[in-house]
Amino acid sequence: MGTKQLRWGVISTANIGRAAVNPAIQASSNGALMAIASRDEETARTFAEKWDIPTSYGSYEALLDDQQIDAVYIPLPNSLHRAWTIKAAEKGKHILCEKPLALNAAECLEMQAAADAHGVKLMEAFMYRFHPQTEKVLEMVRSGVVGELRMIHSAFTFRLTPPDNIRWKPEMGGGALMDVGSYCVNISRTLAGLEPVEVQAFAHWGSSGVDDQLAGTLRFANGVLAQFDCALTMERRETYEVAGTDAFLRIPAAFLPGTADTLFHEQRGRKEHLEHTTPGVDEYRLMVEHFADCVLNDRPVRYTAAEAALNMRVIEALYRSARNAGKPVEL
Ligand SMILES: NC(=O)c1ccc[n+]([C@@H]2O[C@H](COP(=O)([O-])OP(=O)(O)OC[C@H]3O[C@@H](n4cnc5c(N)ncnc54)[C@H](OP(=O)(O)O)[C@@H]3O)[C@@H](O)[C@H]2O)c1
Repeated sequence: MGTKQLRWGVISTANIGRAAVNPAIQASSNGALMAIASRDEETARTFAEKWDIPTSYGSYEALLDDQQIDAVYIPLPNSLHRAWTIKAAEKGKHILCEKPLALNAAECLEMQAAADAHGVKLMEAFMYRFHPQTEKVLEMVRSGVVGELRMIHSAFTFRLTPPDNIRWKPEMGGGALMDVGSYCVNISRTLAGLEPVEVQAFAHWGSSGVDDQLAGTLRFANGVLAQFDCALTMERRETYEVAGTDAFLRIPAAFLPGTADTLFHEQRGRKEHLEHTTPGVDEYRLMVEHFADCVLNDRPVRYTAAEAALNMRVIEALYRSARNAGKPVEL
């Protein structure tokens, strides 16, 4: 990679940027965090001073006009991903945009078309895919360690307490399935290696109108079934199990294993139990380094917006089922 550095700007002072992605960019081997933008100038300036970011802007447009910026990271509410990705592409910026990439599959494809038209890279920031634990599980399943894959169970739940959070707002693309269930859909499709042919979901709807709890099933044409649950109202769980004819894998820290060593289990019958340890890494840093490498060396990103569109297509179908009292939806 030599000494080339990707010059990043971040669109908004979002929590996830502050807590995870901005520091990952600052620590990355091939990137530098050059600028932060907020809707409010004072917020941007204070944030930049506190987190050692050289430049701040009081509008997102001003950051997009900065010729010193090569790429932007977009951690905006879900309903704003499409518009700001397209604006960034029009200004020639490469884009790492938060998950879920957009409100629906059509928006994802529109964003990919804009990126292609302006010759920039676009990737959805599902960071867990870059953790070596995820890669190891996928490799084991693909090489037949569990025998023939039959069943996937996943869960991502947590208790969301602030009442004004974007996840409670239907108009911002809130809801448990959009926020954390999207990980379960993503890992299920990835493990199955196929797109589901039918889905079904039941939801509990919170007072603001978003699903605060949802349980879904995905049926794949080869007979594999994936079940998951997600919630904004339950104790933290982020886990999955992959079961086949010969063995099953249990991954207790699935999506946010943190930076310490992490461990998952392989079990066969009652007696055979193996533990697999993955050395600690920062999955956010691996993600931003991959993205920067793709831009700097003109390589394709591992996960395109077309892939994100497939995830959103399943999420849309799950919502259709949940809104229709759990009636199955064919894809
Ligand atoms: N990959 C992950 O691990 C992960 C984790 C958490 C969240 N996320 C994703 O990251 C995105 C942001 O989530 P977050 O929890 O970090 O959100 P957040 O803290 O609420 O930040 C969203 C930011 O968007 C800006 N914004 C612009 N218009 C807004 C509006 N009308 N209402 C509220 N904020 C507005 C605000 O920045 P300014 O005031 O500075 O303009 C705000 O700080 C979501 O897409 C979420 O799904 C990903």
